[in-house]
Amino acid sequence: MGAHVPVLLSQSIEALAIKKDGIYVDLTLGRAGHSSHILRQLGEKGHLYAFDLDQSALDEGGAILSAISPSFTLIHSSFASLDAELAARGVNEVDGILADLGVSSPQFDEGERGFSYRLDAPLDMRMDRSAPFSAYDVVNGYGLRELTEVLRRYGEEKDAYAIAKSILRQREISPIRTTFDLVEAVKRAKSPQELRKKGHPAKQTFQAIRIEVNHEFDALERMLTLAPRLLRKDGRLAIITFMSLDDRATKDAFRALTTVEGDRHGIVLPSDITKPEYHLYSKKPIVPTPEELASNPRSASAKLRVLVKD
Ligand SMILES: C[S@@+](CC[C@H](N)C(=O)[O-])C[C@H]1O[C@@H](n2cnc3c(N)ncnc32)[C@H](O)[C@@H]1O
Repeated sequence: MGAHVPVLLSQSIEALAIKKDGIYVDLTLGRAGHSSHILRQLGEKGHLYAFDLDQSALDEGGAILSAISPSFTLIHSSFASLDAELAARGVNEVDGILADLGVSSPQFDEGERGFSYRLDAPLDMRMDRSAPFSAYDVVNGYGLRELTEVLRRYGEEKDAYAIAKSILRQREISPIRTTFDLVEAVKRAKSPQELRKKGHPAKQTFQAIRIEVNHEFDALERMLTLAPRLLRKDGRLAIITFMSLDDRATKDAFRALTTVEGDRHGIVLPSDITKPEYHLYSKKPIVPTPEELASNPRSASAKLRVLVKD
């Protein structure tokens, strides 16, 4: 329990190579762990735009930023519409964009949000509490096929089908209303050996449902097409992921933008080659140091990839 410790902080700030008078975008403000470092480096002409789906992140992150400088704007929206939100504020080009994906520690720790399998609460999991669709609707409304697919795709859960069946069986008796009801339905689908394994048996199920509720993967895919187009020359797009699904999508999108057409498929004529407009800041993803891993368990699976506009 406790405050959110920013992950890969110095590496991501360094990779953004912040210009004093630049325009920067933090797509995932949270508790302003990264944003406050960006804002501190900006001069009078610089500006930071900070997105979050979660109003409490905007309230608390915004208060932290206010103590540093007034040169920022909060945006209560998904980063899936970052181009429209920025355009509405007269911004069509930026010097750097950062996304630190996933859930923040306060979201997990506030029991009533329903993100944690360790705290009993109504099934909610909405990052944006004004959204009409919650974990309750996924768990009690989806059919067997849909539910299995969500658990398999977003949770990489190998018992996806058995868990979905167990959920449907439970629903025949009564709706699954709480996080602990869902944990019970998951446990019923797991073998005794599986239940003895390290790690919580419902971890992947909760992850999958959270991603579905918040359209997290769709938002990432959309952002990956929009964000590179907003970069100015030498602009940077830095993305911190925590799951292989997100990392793969980021890696593939960056590869497509930095690969000369044809160079992976044999010989091409020089006249056919269109030079890419971007390059990778580092070939391999940047990962936490052993010190960070030891001090912040949340950093365990983190990877930072950075795209640079030429
Ligand atoms: C890992 S936290 C960011 C933490 C932040 N970098 C810090 O150090 O304090 C991720 C944040 O992104 C927000 N978020 C997730 N998906 C989003 C989306 N599609 N659009 C806007 N915000 C999103 C969550 O509500 C959460 O506050």
